[in-house]
Amino acid sequence: MNVQEHLTSEQALWANQMTAKIIEKLLVVRERSAVKIPSGAIDGVHDNKLTEQGPLGRTKTFWTNGFWAGILWQLYSVTQDMRYAEIARYTEDILHDCLSEATGLATHDIGYLFLPSSVLDYKLTGSKHALNDASVAANLLAGRFNPVGNYIRAWNGKTLPGFAPGDSEMHTAGVAIIDCMLNLPLLYWASEITEDPRYRHIAMKHADMAIKNFIWEDGSVIHIVEFDPETSAYVSDFGGQGYQKGSSWARGQVWSLYGFTASYKHTQKQEYLETAKKIAAYFLSNIPDNGLIPEDFCQPAEPWVQDDIAACAASCGLIELAGLVHEKEGRTYLEAALNMLRAIDEKSADWSLGTDGITMRGSTAYHVRDRVHGWNKNYIYADYFFIEAVLKLKGQGVCIW
Ligand code: GLY
Repeated sequence: MNVQEHLTSEQALWANQMTAKIIEKLLVVRERSAVKIPSGAIDGVHDNKLTEQGPLGRTKTFWTNGFWAGILWQLYSVTQDMRYAEIARYTEDILHDCLSEATGLATHDIGYLFLPSSVLDYKLTGSKHALNDASVAANLLAGRFNPVGNYIRAWNGKTLPGFAPGDSEMHTAGVAIIDCMLNLPLLYWASEITEDPRYRHIAMKHADMAIKNFIWEDGSVIHIVEFDPETSAYVSDFGGQGYQKGSSWARGQVWSLYGFTASYKHTQKQEYLETAKKIAAYFLSNIPDNGLIPEDFCQPAEPWVQDDIAACAASCGLIELAGLVHEKEGRTYLEAALNMLRAIDEKSADWSLGTDGITMRGSTAYHVRDRVHGWNKNYIYADYFFIEAVLKLKGQGVCIW
């Protein structure tokens, strides 16, 4: 269905008001953070991944380092204000360096790094430099494919801290994670640009593998699966950033919901659409009445751990999915997305011009509670997806996924 035609005039007005607020705030924030790559705001001030070393380590290649550029490029797309482009390219110049240092640093998150930065730059400006960087990134992602298990390897070296209790150390050569579903659009993009189907074939093999190994019958998903990288035999699955093994990490639901929606959009394979709908049905049936999303749908009632990142990214996925289905289903997805976005605006957003973040209650992992990556704080990717969702409601911005 056509999303814009189905918004009520009041909903359309709300989306316009949000856009105005976003632009008003970003005009100030962009100058304060012009020479930073923020991963979020602490006490109202953007941190800088280039100078600060958080407990999760890594600076230049920290997996969310593409999202600040993504915010700037999305706003460039609606304003044509070159200052957004200038600041976004500050990030891109630094990410460019990462490509030449990539051995051992690049992970599957190279999609999250380069889709909102170089791919978006290329889509908007045709920059040859951005095209080159995004193409190298796509090749690095494709190079992580294991043809024995048909999965894209997630990480290198040791696993990150903060996983669910009982998660043992994994052999990362055999580890695939559900988050990778939203890295696949880098491969779809590469096939479209090069007219070479190999990238798409790899993406589809991974998506097919995910359907078999990550999605439960009820539409809930597993965060992490370990395979034997020599034989493809299943070794174990893990609760990862969720509450525990077998629980339902909300952001895992979201990466798969949006990832299968994107995979359907790029390939027209019906099974991907059916999978996206199944995950969406589970997600919708678990949204609390107040529209605020928990870190894990199976977490205990207390303490309340909220994840605005999941709410915002799910809204993007649902609005995109609404555009691919018939009216009855589409309306349900659209209303759920609006419910979550409005809940963020009313109960979680900070529109003050003196602070750098917008969404105030994201959480990266149920078992991580430190000041930098802990509970109920601002994260750059929550803000990115909030902005993407609002623009998507208006039929504006650029879909990079
Ligand atoms: N992709 C990692 C996360 O969602 O935290």
